Amino acid sequence: MDELLARAFQYLPGGSSWMWTLPPDVAFVVARGEGSRVWDTRGRAYIDYVLGSGPLLLGHAPPAVVAAVQAQAAKGSTYQWLSEPMIRLAERLCRAVPCARKVRFVSTGTEATMFAIRMARAFTGREKVLKFEGGWHGLHDYALTGTFPWSEAPFPTARPDVGGVPKGALESVLVAPFNDLGTTEEILAVHGRDVAAIIVEPLQRALRPATGFLQGLRALADRHKCLLIFDEVVTGFRLAWGGAQEFYGVLPDLATYGKALTCGYSLAAVCGRADVMDTADPARKGTLDYALLSGTLSGNPLACAAGLAALDELAREGVYPRLARLGRMLREGMAEVAARRGVGLQALGEGPIAQPVFLDPAAPALTERDLRRADGARAGRLGLELIRRGVFVIPGAKLYLSLAHSDADIAETLEAFDQALVASA
Ligand SMILES: Cc1ncc(COP(=O)(O)O)c(C=O)c1O
Repeated sequence: MDELLARAFQYLPGGSSWMWTLPPDVAFVVARGEGSRVWDTRGRAYIDYVLGSGPLLLGHAPPAVVAAVQAQAAKGSTYQWLSEPMIRLAERLCRAVPCARKVRFVSTGTEATMFAIRMARAFTGREKVLKFEGGWHGLHDYALTGTFPWSEAPFPTARPDVGGVPKGALESVLVAPFNDLGTTEEILAVHGRDVAAIIVEPLQRALRPATGFLQGLRALADRHKCLLIFDEVVTGFRLAWGGAQEFYGVLPDLATYGKALTCGYSLAAVCGRADVMDTADPARKGTLDYALLSGTLSGNPLACAAGLAALDELAREGVYPRLARLGRMLREGMAEVAARRGVGLQALGEGPIAQPVFLDPAAPALTERDLRRADGARAGRLGLELIRRGVFVIPGAKLYLSLAHSDADIAETLEAFDQALVASA
């Protein structure tokens, strides 16, 4: 292990600031990123499919975003007050996102989903929230249940995924199986009158919604007079300009945005119906109709300037067909390689998202419990073998593509994938 890595392991728990760490023989320190690649401190290049966990839909250091950030940085990084970039970004978001009439900016996707749930509670006067097993909504206490495979429980019981989640938080969460409208309906038949919101990732990780599932959730939310929240932190500006709600044609009450919104600067948002968003109006302070949403760096002009520049790039002609084509190339390429090697593998995902899972392609995965039957250990080994061959992925997790990725990048990746598949057996 080189000296800088050794210091990382000395001063950072597990040598990490996230939920991933790599074994010493493949671990590396990023020195810089440009376009579709990162370089480590030893000068080795990797085609990057981590992309900062998804924000870098334009690739690393897109010149237009860099220039916008540099120009704003000279005028100040944060004011905690209204700025032109913030107002323009709010307007842009409302024009792009079908459900959005008003917006509140926060700093992370975790805050966005936590605050959306708070708004739904304040608006409906109800406490419970229904989420789907395997759905990821960040790191607050209401989100860290029913997400990880090891904590399987009978529906709708919410068990903690990690230590430190209080029972009180879990009591207000119901967990349902993704893509299973019947079970969701049964849960709501019992608990509906206490449910403030259904929160869902419309594309759950890399699992596509079954035909009619999201429409069915809309109908159930209406029937039980609760809100439907689309967590679009991943899908927003990625599957389509109007996000998953445009892509799948279902209108939620609230949506949470992050990641691609600024293509790499710390900003997230809750947006949606005006009457629900107005629970954040400071004029309501001192009443229980007020859902406080704020934060020191919320809506900072640096990230908003980045967002405006990033959205200008994403608004260009041909962006979404290109992202869809790249994703398809990668997924189809992986499936072809696996079929040629006689390996049972499904390449899940939609748009510029791909995830190889070791499951028989004859029975397409629909739920988190389907995914649990996959060979996760092999997926982990495959990831490590890809990194060894200069393809940066989080072992076992999904791969993100960007507009900076080229057909040649994908061809090179598929060659590495072929070798890695054999090495991971
Ligand atoms: C769907 C979804 N929601 C929320 C979050 C949390 O966002 P953040 O990591 O910015 O807190 C993530 C992060 O990966 C996510 O994928």
